[in-house]
Amino acid sequence: FNYQAARFLTSAPTLATCPPDSGAEVAFAGRSNAGKSSAINALTRQKALARTSKTPGRTQLINFFTLGDDTERRLVDLPGYGFAKVPESVKLEWQRHLSDYLQRRASLRGLVLVMDVRHPLSEFDQTLLGWADDKAMPVHILLTKADKLKSGAGKNALQQVRSRLREWEDLVSIQLFSSLKGQGIEEVHQRLDSWLLD
Ligand code: GTP
Ligand code: MG
Repeated sequence: FNYQAARFLTSAPTLATCPPDSGAEVAFAGRSNAGKSSAINALTRQKALARTSKTPGRTQLINFFTLGDDTERRLVDLPGYGFAKVPESVKLEWQRHLSDYLQRRASLRGLVLVMDVRHPLSEFDQTLLGWADDKAMPVHILLTKADKLKSGAGKNALQQVRSRLREWEDLVSIQLFSSLKGQGIEEVHQRLDSWLLD
């Protein structure tokens, strides 16, 4: 796929207003501020396709991008979870939307779970892995902001997360990533290709 040809399609507040559930899509999930939108920009080599921000909670809608003119192949930028300043009721509401989306979206082929390499596997990351497991939905984990660690420390973090997720190794793959340095882009493209093909 030509990831550089990606374009904004639409934003939706809930599952009910998402674009038609046909073709194939891959969604980017993770904690607020983990670097989901930045990863989408790095993967499409576009500076501002998805909006990024220093302030957590920037992405509040489900944003859909198409790979070129083909609306049947999409990348989806999900709002982050776990942002401390959001009221509990809003958090729960969001978790419900996310759960609905994961349970019911037929075109969803895989989940890219984005985690800051320095803070991997939050409680809700693990909840999400559980939901994915229930649906036998494959998950590719990006340990992002790898540029913040020396390479040895990055490798250690990768090994630790791998061993903690050993029970899920059939469904879960993991890699280091850096949007800032463009590290790991090829590996993600290969994974997305395999999910979005047919
Ligand atoms: P929400 O939309 O709030 O859920 O956040 P998000 O997960 O989309 O994070 P976003 O991509 O907006 O990035 C959050 C902050 O982290 C921004 O200040 C980015 O510049 C920074 N950031 C993202 N990826 C990287 C990276 O690979 N390396 C470094 N050093 N900073 C990064
Ligand atoms: Mg975002």
